[in-house]
Order: sequence, then structure tokens, then C-alpha cells
Amino acid sequence: MPQPRWRLPLLGDLLSIDVAKPVQREMQMAQELGGIFERKILQHRLIVVSGADLVREVNDEEKWAKFLGKPLRKLRVIAGDGLFTAFNSEPNWSKAHNILGPGFSQAAMRGYHDSMLTVVDRLVDSWDSAAAGGEYVDVPKSMTSLTFDVIGRCGFSYDFDSFGRTEPDPFIAAMSRALEYINRSSNDIPILRALFGRSARAQHARDIALMQETVDRIVEERMRSGEQHGDLLDLMMHTVDPDTGEQLSPESIRNQVLTFLVAGNETTAATLGFAIHFLSRHPEVVAKARAEITQVVGADGRIGYEQVAKLRYVRRVVDETLRLWPAAPGYFRKVRGETTLGGRTLPKGSWVFVLLPQLHRDPLWGDDPERFDPDRFEPAAVRKRPAHIFKPWGTGIRACIGRQFALHEAVLTLASLIRRYDFAPEPGYELDVHEAITLKPRRLKVKLSTL
Ligand code: HEM
Repeated sequence: MPQPRWRLPLLGDLLSIDVAKPVQREMQMAQELGGIFERKILQHRLIVVSGADLVREVNDEEKWAKFLGKPLRKLRVIAGDGLFTAFNSEPNWSKAHNILGPGFSQAAMRGYHDSMLTVVDRLVDSWDSAAAGGEYVDVPKSMTSLTFDVIGRCGFSYDFDSFGRTEPDPFIAAMSRALEYINRSSNDIPILRALFGRSARAQHARDIALMQETVDRIVEERMRSGEQHGDLLDLMMHTVDPDTGEQLSPESIRNQVLTFLVAGNETTAATLGFAIHFLSRHPEVVAKARAEITQVVGADGRIGYEQVAKLRYVRRVVDETLRLWPAAPGYFRKVRGETTLGGRTLPKGSWVFVLLPQLHRDPLWGDDPERFDPDRFEPAAVRKRPAHIFKPWGTGIRACIGRQFALHEAVLTLASLIRRYDFAPEPGYELDVHEAITLKPRRLKVKLSTL
């Protein structure tokens, strides 16, 4: 198995890791070592796969399955056996998967469309003020506000009102701190954390308690009122799993709500942020998208539910963004029994990490994979490529359940912004990809001119 050249006894490849940007370091390593390589940090072994043919092999559901890598196991303190962090064998996974599937179908988006538009209108109001004052807008901050408010409303009819307040909602503040803590504690040295991390640990415990109590209160309130809102919470409270004839327990409902807030917020916010970065660098893409929006929707007026699916070029902008910077940078897969990968035998229990940003730069994408070009997703071009070289939503039965939701939200938001503003980058800014559990653009600001 290819491995970094300077491996040390005991430490392994410790000196070659980049604690702040491990994914981007792995991308460099993949360019040097190829589509499969092994990293060893102290006694821990990690196989990183990014070559297209090898990824096709590990996506084979008969031989491989989702593996809960360390970052996902750490998230269980928040989301328990919720959909995203459940082990394959946990019964609540299939129950929740059956019950929630309809709530994430393309047709279900019709029910969320107005709520999404309300939040997008708030974003536009806030950006109009910034544009009038000639200010730069903090893109990641705005996008996080947007995606939290959207999932709050569509998920459980809760208004975080992120654009109407100067300090974030206490729930959002607690969740951001908790995710930051989990991310940091995945990388730091356990003994130092044990010795010096007492106050951070106590804060973490308080943050998790606050999140759980808030969700429990929302669920209890809904039970008491008996109201129906047509949101995901309704579905979870009133639907019976056809396989078992059972409903979700209150604890499982809480875990799913927290899961949507964790899995559905940062990823979509980051994707929108990266897209706006690319739009600020590619006025020709903005012009083409704007022409499409005018043709489908008209120059002003409300964007209707049916029109979102017709904004094919805007959708290609989202796809191309997800190719270059997939917000979830990879997924873990574990062999079901002894198998081979690229001709090498892997014993039962082996697992690998699929490194998406590198898969998405595979030579099969052509000789200029760094170029941002939404036309790569024109139907004729897509038909010529194997499907397994674009996997931003993961793979198989455990792939992203929120895909249609994220796409509807992202296309609607980008279309609303593109038809209203030109975006100018901040002079001297170079894209800085911050790594936490997701990838996100850091310190990204753009100046808006209203059309
Ligand atoms: C799973 C990406 C938005 C909910 C996943 C996985 C990926 C992914 C790669 C598979 C993880 C694995 O195999 O370990 C994304 C991206 C998004 C996005 C790139 C936005 C651009 C959303 C949204 C929601 C959501 C909006 C919910 C509202 C979930 C859930 C799972 C999941 C519940 C676990 C599914 C299961 O295992 O059954 N997502 N996601 N995601 N995602 Fe998303």
C-alpha cells in the first residue's frame, strides 16, 4: 500500500499531518501517492481512497457498508442513534428512514417552498441594507442564518429569527460551540484535554443539555397543542413505520431533530457560500444564470415551486460547486467480510475513507479539473461520464436523505440572489477552505450591487 515516504517508528506519519487542514493535506498526498494510500498516526491506520475505479469498488453495497468513522462517532453525543450517526445495525435507523423518507421526497418540497421563500426574503432584506450602505457582506454568517432558519421552520415550525437579532439564538450558539468542541477534541491530545479541558468540558455538557431541553420543549408543546403544521416533526410524531408497525419514541424524535440541525445546516450553508465565492469570480456564469432566471421566472415576481426544477443552469452551478468543494468532504466505508480492493486483500473489519474533493478532480473530469465550469453538468456531458465520480451526497442506502431539500433550498436561494445582485470579491481574497466536520469558506466577503 503506498504510504508517505518519511514514516517514523512509533509516531508513524504524525509529522506529515496538518491538524488544521487534514483534508487538503490528504488531497496533496493523493496527488503524490495515487488513488489509494495508507496513513498511520501513532497506532491508528487510515486508508484513503480517491481513485475513480477504487471508489466504485468501495461503493458496492454487497461487499461494503457505511462505517461510522471517528468524527461521526463523536457526533453521537448530540445526535445519538439519529439517522446520520446510527450504526447500521441500530433498529431506529430503518424506522426513521422509513418514516422520514416521504418528508424528503421531491414532492414534499412543495410543502416547504413558502417557508424557504420567507427566509430567503429576510436574507434579501438584510443584503439590500448592506448593498445600500456599500458594505461587504459576511457570506458564511448570512448563509448559516439562512439555513438554520429554513430547517427550523420546515423541520419543526420554529423561528430562530436569525436575521432579526444581533446575537444568535441560544440554541444556535450552543450547537456551534458543541460542534467546535467535538471537532477540536477529534484532533487534540487526550491527556492534555483531560488535564486542562475541564471548563470546556463543563460548557460542552451545558450546551448539549440546552439543545436537548429545547427540542424536548418543542416536541412537548406540539403534543399538548395537538396542532398539525405539515412539517417533519408532524411526520415523526404521527407516522407508523410500515415494517414494524411502531412509531418513533420521543428520544428518537429528539435525535432526528438534532440530526437535521447538524447534518442539514452547515453543509447547505457551506455549499451556498462556496457558490457565491465562485459567482463573484465568474461574472459570465452570473450572466448566464440570470438569463435563465429571467426566462423561467421573469425579471421580478415570486419564484414558484415548479420553477425551481426548471432552473437547470442554476442547478449546474450548485453541482459544480459541490464537485470542487463538497461540503461533506468524504465518507467512511467498511468491508462486510474479507474482500479485495484494487487487487489487494483486505481482511474483515477493514475500513477506508473516500476523499471526495480528490475523486472530484479525477483525470476522468478532464485535464483542467480546478476550473469552475457548470457546463460540465450539461446532460450530454453527464451521460459521457461514469456516475460514481460525483458523490457529494455519499452512496448507497446511507446516502444523504436531505439531498432534495438542500438542492431546492440552494437553487431557490441562489436564483433569488443572482437576479438581484452583482457580487464583487474582496480585493486580495484567496479562497480559504476551513475544515471542521464540514468544509467551509472562511472570511469570505462580497460587495453587492443591486440591479
Ligand atoms: C447523509 C452530504 C444536506 C440530512 C449525508 C452524507 C453525505 C451528505 C455525504 C453521507 C454520510 C455518510 O455516508 O457517512 C450532504 C450535503 C448537503 C447535505 C453535501 C448539502 C449540500 C442535508 C440536509 C439534511 C441532511 C439539508 C436534512 C435536512 C442527512 C442525513 C443523513 C445524511 C439525515 C444520514 C442518512 C442516513 O444515513 O440514513 N449527507 N448533506 N443532509 N444527510 Fe446530508
